[in-house]
Amino acid sequence: MSSSFYESDDAVAQYLLFHYGTPEQICPLLPEARAACGFPARCVSESIKHLDLRQRNRALDLGCAVGRGSFELARYFDDVLGLDFSARFVDEAERMRRDRGATVRVPREGASFDEMKLALPEDVRGENIRFTRGDACDLSADLGTFDLVVMANLIDRLPDPAKCLARLPGLVHPGGWLVITSPYTWLEEYTPRDKWLEQGAGTLAGLRKHLAPGFTGHKVFDLPFLIREHRRKFQWSIAEVSLWQRR
Ligand SMILES: C[S@@+](CC[C@H](N)C(=O)[O-])C[C@H]1O[C@@H](n2cnc3c(N)ncnc32)[C@H](O)[C@@H]1O
Repeated sequence: MSSSFYESDDAVAQYLLFHYGTPEQICPLLPEARAACGFPARCVSESIKHLDLRQRNRALDLGCAVGRGSFELARYFDDVLGLDFSARFVDEAERMRRDRGATVRVPREGASFDEMKLALPEDVRGENIRFTRGDACDLSADLGTFDLVVMANLIDRLPDPAKCLARLPGLVHPGGWLVITSPYTWLEEYTPRDKWLEQGAGTLAGLRKHLAPGFTGHKVFDLPFLIREHRRKFQWSIAEVSLWQRR
């Protein structure tokens, strides 16, 4: 798997289901395995309840993929920007904003597929969201500042995570918040080994070191998530969620 994975048909179908599928669509066979479904929505709701948000003007969903986290942020913020490197993902996010639904074919077993109709929840809005293509390691200077930046499961997919972290103090205005989630699945196909933030002490320590000049660590907790490969096979991962306040 490499960054071109996120431009593939397989990734588009997998991520549309991951973001917009109901627990029954994602995991039809075993109800007790469904608690880890709905990660993009839980990521926003479980994080935001711990944040003392003084303003709710602008939020940035960095590495937004097909966009569900951005729609969830739009419940709380006047203006949301979803940014991702994958042109396919940004197109799908925008299509979801326009059509409020999509049909996907996802692997069932062998050469068989399940066709599923996915829908945005009726109570989320889209008119206050903009999706755009961009590189989290080379963000344009004119993005402005945000009350909240969310980086969900992005850090271990970047070629230069430290470069992205160094840009964050300029993106979050004083008193604003940063949410980073990741299962810390470091892979050399995405990140050269000498750029991994883990470096023996653990990724959280690496994050703390790089963020210390601009942010105060607030809270850390675990959030599991389930990505379907086929009807009987899933990636079950535990993201660590860390909340940081801009000084
Ligand atoms: C593991 S997915 C997580 C997506 C989403 N935040 C979620 O929680 O489902 C990683 C995402 O990061 C995006 N990505 C990878 N490299 C990037 C970069 N340099 N800049 C912005 N996005 C990037 C990928 O296209 C993909 O959408």
